[in-house]
Amino acid sequence: MNFQLTEEHLMIQKAAREFAQNELKPGVIERDNAMAYPTEGVKRMGELGFLGMMVSPEYGGGGMDTISYVLAMEEISKVDNSCSVIMSVNNSLVCWGLETFGNKEQKDKYLKKLASGEMIGAFCLSEPEAGSDATQQRTTAILDGDHYVINGTKNWITNGKMAGIYLVIAHTDRDKGHRGINCFIVEADTPGVTTGVKEDKLGIRSSDTCSVMFSDVKVPIANRIGEDGFGFKFAMKTLSGGRIGIASQALGIASGAFELATAYSKEREAFGRPISHHQAIAFKLADMATEIEAARLLCLKAAYEKDHGLPYDQSSAMAKVFASETAMKVSTEAVQVHGGYGFVKEYHVERLMRDAKITQIYEGTSEIQRIVISRSLLK
Ligand code: CAA
Repeated sequence: MNFQLTEEHLMIQKAAREFAQNELKPGVIERDNAMAYPTEGVKRMGELGFLGMMVSPEYGGGGMDTISYVLAMEEISKVDNSCSVIMSVNNSLVCWGLETFGNKEQKDKYLKKLASGEMIGAFCLSEPEAGSDATQQRTTAILDGDHYVINGTKNWITNGKMAGIYLVIAHTDRDKGHRGINCFIVEADTPGVTTGVKEDKLGIRSSDTCSVMFSDVKVPIANRIGEDGFGFKFAMKTLSGGRIGIASQALGIASGAFELATAYSKEREAFGRPISHHQAIAFKLADMATEIEAARLLCLKAAYEKDHGLPYDQSSAMAKVFASETAMKVSTEAVQVHGGYGFVKEYHVERLMRDAKITQIYEGTSEIQRIVISRSLLK
């Protein structure tokens, strides 16, 4: 066993850290306040290769491993989680899903653009009445000659307005249960596709989250991913990797909040010395650092298993549930270390606390992760 990162990993980590600190940090508070989409940040993520990190070079990607992705996600999530969720969805749910399960024509047509950031993608699984219980899809895709006709509404879609393509999960035959679900590539400008208003959210406020509606949307059979009936498994397999991305986002929130709290505790004095010299604060920092380290190891283990062709459903769920709960706990404690200053926007840490909450909800709630883990343990 080797806990050391390679030279290449360290370079990627450094590049992501410099990008986040130098290019994303300026303006992040204003973007969050205004719910302004990080147009320049997303463009730069594309140019720097962060939107298609694991895509093979044949399709214009970085050909990197999942460990590199975890490291980059952590650094970017220390600063701007609206950018990191856009990055995570594009990398793990859209590019990975398409590269792993799409056919050559589908990859040739879309993957290069997605990997370079020329186009970003969205993953449309959640519905108004099908969130955690994902087999209960109401969206239908009915076969009609050489195409399917899609009708339905998808909720909470990251990249909803900005996406060039949607991966849409829909029922093609309700009688077959989850085996009657398929996934389709739908181009955003297809007639019948509309989007709702941008959601006014607690955290990740700049990211583009909205409903996407499909009304008699005609999609060629060639746009179905995989064999007929593969859609639910496609979603589950893709989400297992997505959960490593969100776990890394949570890890970044926790380590970002910890860095802010540590720096502040060394500067701020109370009762004649820096507050870091008071055991009440020093022990908080010790607990925060310990939990962050545990979260990091879980993320890296899940990434290692994915990179080595080992099963990773359980480890990605463990990483996500632990890292997201750590993000919530550590960011709340980091606000506490800052006292009143932690409660104002200027100090960044309150934003990280707000951003932390969503990591316990999207790509499977903490409760769903515990279902995945317990089923895997007890099977
Ligand atoms: N890999 C492959 N197949 C899988 C699988 C996996 N990881 N998990 C389940 N399956 C298969 C099962 O084997 C089963 O197939 P068979 O009957 O052929 O054996 C089939 O899928 C159904 O599985 P279950 O019976 O376990 O299904 P279930 O109804 O009990 O649900 C669940 C399982 C894990 C709870 C699932 O519904 C789930 O993950 N729900 C959460 C959904 C979710 O994460 N949504 C997030 C939305 S996306 C998002 O947030 C993106 C964004 O924009 C940020």
